[in-house]
Amino acid sequence: MAKRREKFGSSLAAVMAMAGSAIGLGNIWRFPYMTGQNGGAAFILVYLLAAFILSLPIMLCESLIGRRTSSGTFGAMEKLAPRSKWKYLGFLTVISPLVILSYYSVVGGWSIDYFVRSVAGGFGQDVSSYFALFVANPSRPLLYHTLFIVATVLVVSRGIKSGIESFNKISLPLLFVLIVIIMTYSLSLPGAMEGVKYLVKPDFSKLTPSAIAAAMGQSFFSLSLGVGTILTYASYMKKQDNLLRSGAGTAFFDMVFALLAGFAIMPAVFAAGIEPGAGPGLIFETLPFIFSKMGLASPILSRSVSILFFLAIVVAALTSSISMCEVGVTYLVDEKGFSRKKASIVIFGATWLLGALCSLSFGPLEQFKILGKTLFDFCDHLTSDYLMTFGSLLFVIFVGWKMKKADVRDEFTNGGRLGVSGRIFPVFYFLVRYVAPAVILIIFLSNLLLK
Ligand code: TRP
Repeated sequence: MAKRREKFGSSLAAVMAMAGSAIGLGNIWRFPYMTGQNGGAAFILVYLLAAFILSLPIMLCESLIGRRTSSGTFGAMEKLAPRSKWKYLGFLTVISPLVILSYYSVVGGWSIDYFVRSVAGGFGQDVSSYFALFVANPSRPLLYHTLFIVATVLVVSRGIKSGIESFNKISLPLLFVLIVIIMTYSLSLPGAMEGVKYLVKPDFSKLTPSAIAAAMGQSFFSLSLGVGTILTYASYMKKQDNLLRSGAGTAFFDMVFALLAGFAIMPAVFAAGIEPGAGPGLIFETLPFIFSKMGLASPILSRSVSILFFLAIVVAALTSSISMCEVGVTYLVDEKGFSRKKASIVIFGATWLLGALCSLSFGPLEQFKILGKTLFDFCDHLTSDYLMTFGSLLFVIFVGWKMKKADVRDEFTNGGRLGVSGRIFPVFYFLVRYVAPAVILIIFLSNLLLK
């Protein structure tokens, strides 16, 4: 390779980029709802366990492959297992994040529209039908989808330091500030305590096997695992960075943000006297309704909160979409010799097109179904339920069974220089070799058979 590869400026910068990838729509629209549904504090406990016993080891597997090879997913497999079938894992993990990016940017586009609406003064007379009418008419969703991908690609095309690092350095603190402001407001509403109870009241009877599987699945999704994003970011980390500390830091920020989002959303939902839901409906239907209801009491306050909230969603979605885009760009730059600019344009074209089709699946393409699902739902289901778990499974098998143990230890402990990592290594290795593959396989099969 002729040119020296860029690196993140510091380990904090790398953690912020990874946390930016992790913190996204998953924290805001899935976590609060799942927690409430599946036993509150009891679920949070399982989620924490899943994050540190299962997801963190997977994340570390991806990181150590990426950092060891200084290559993206495809190149990494070529370096560590040349001319083997592992190259398909490389391919898979180039494609998966691009599929996620396509439909994710549709939702990112919706958030931009909602932000613009909030600034412009609200969602019209009939708030409850705003969403349905908005997504069914193709032009505005397409416009904002395009805008969202353009923003993503622009950041990525500027490179690791001046693009991704700079963007995350501002966005991540901003996100925390925004969510804390919203949470403070939400908690001050009359009736808010019901929402807090919904989130934290432990109910161990709700911890069914499927709730436990849901906690694990959510943990994968939330930490952006199994699709090579973490691997790619780690390939831009310095050799002296501490992988264990960075991984734990990322998981910690992600968890804290998920909890803050829960306390920002659920108290408001309960204060408005509505049943909490999940998914797009929670953000794009329930919340505007709540804002308009609050608007009756204090229009300016409710409008400001609405603006800040949708701004937070746009930013959270962008920091994630940037990481997905980087996987494809790294591949084209490293393996195909493209310039970063050209690579960004190619990725833009491909994901814009697939995303546009996903966007149209709420309107003109509604009848076009794959396995009974619209294109948007199909892409979501394919990636979150299968590709992420399958990718994670292959990564842990690769590190646990294919790579040499000495090499894994060497990378994990920076050549033996990190004492704490050295002491934790046996536990990590055991989890990676035996526990993680078994658990991921169970989740994968339960997704395959039960969903
Ligand atoms: N973690 C992101 C969120 O919580 C979503 C996500 C899933 C993701 N898979 C990813 C982000 C892969 C980047 C890469 O919203």
